[in-house]
Amino acid sequence: MLIMGIETSCDETAVAVVKDGKKIFSNVTVTQIPYHRRYGGVVPEIAARKHLEAINSVIEEAVFRADIDARHIEKIAVTVGPGLMSSLLVGITAARTMGIIYGKPVVGINHILAHLYANFLFHDLGPPYIGLVASGGHCDLIYSTSHNEFNVLASTRDDAPGETFDKIAKLVGRPYPGGAEIEKIAKSGNPDSFEVPFPKFKDNSNDFSFSGIKTFVKNRLKEISSDKIPDLMASFQKKIAEIFIDRILKAVEEKKCMRVLLAGGVMANSYIISHLEEECSRNSIQLFIPPPEFCTDNAAMVACRGFFGGGNLLVPQPDLKICKK
Ligand SMILES: Nc1ncnc2c1ncn2[C@@H]1O[C@H](COP(=O)(O)OP(=O)(O)OP(=O)(O)O)[C@@H](O)[C@H]1O
Ligand SMILES: [Mg+2]
Repeated sequence: MLIMGIETSCDETAVAVVKDGKKIFSNVTVTQIPYHRRYGGVVPEIAARKHLEAINSVIEEAVFRADIDARHIEKIAVTVGPGLMSSLLVGITAARTMGIIYGKPVVGINHILAHLYANFLFHDLGPPYIGLVASGGHCDLIYSTSHNEFNVLASTRDDAPGETFDKIAKLVGRPYPGGAEIEKIAKSGNPDSFEVPFPKFKDNSNDFSFSGIKTFVKNRLKEISSDKIPDLMASFQKKIAEIFIDRILKAVEEKKCMRVLLAGGVMANSYIISHLEEECSRNSIQLFIPPPEFCTDNAAMVACRGFFGGGNLLVPQPDLKICKK
């Protein structure tokens, strides 16, 4: 089945054409980062306006690169949330318009599940699995037993991991988005230099929390000389990896499930990935990760989720099916 994926939930206007959830015919992503950088984060009004300016040409480019006739697209999958409402509306409106013009069904896709499904583009696998999505706005540990059943085992109680990277990058004078910037600085640092606190809850929950770590880094930055910044960044990054593996191992134990899928922009971090790979291999856990460019927002993952199922059990979304008269 030939599916067009459309993604406009945040600061990337993305359209892809994917066959059978696997074969990527085209995958076009136009980033708005340069427009938001000067504000240190995404400005919703600017994001919606830039999506509106870009969406038609990104759709055209995706169809052109796929070398298909748009009439041959059998289904349109569009992100309906979570995300910036005004930005989502641009993608949803474009998808519905195409659905009406070509008489094709339009399905609403959950953005977090789409991130997870980036794995299905590259790996032959299926449920059950434990998925960890660590992105700019979310941190969710999910147990999936079928393409329509998702049980959220844990989430962040405050900041998301990507948000934490972005805020810390700002503190050390690096531009948005900060994840890759911190990774670069951390390369020359010693990850065992600082004892970054490990988040714990009184109720022993497996939830995540990153704001305490951010405050710890903020306070240390006031005390240390600039030559110690790489050590602090490396120690911070190591703690993030340790938190992820701690939560993964607990979920594996609880669900007796040895297959783990990683997703979301933070999983583009090569230090974190190699730490998780090492620990999972030590514990005989099968680990799957999309290539780094498919960890951040893209539309191929949306099309892939649209192939395996448009259901959304994380956040209820409106039914966007449009039927041909
Ligand atoms: N190498 C990296 N190391 C750590 N974090 C990274 C890296 N590359 C990107 N990120 C972070 O990933 C985030 C962007 O990822 P993603 O596109 O998945 O998030 P989002 O779409 O903005 O948020 P959400 O998916 O929660 O709506 C940013 O916070 C960015 O700093
Ligand atoms: Mg995202």
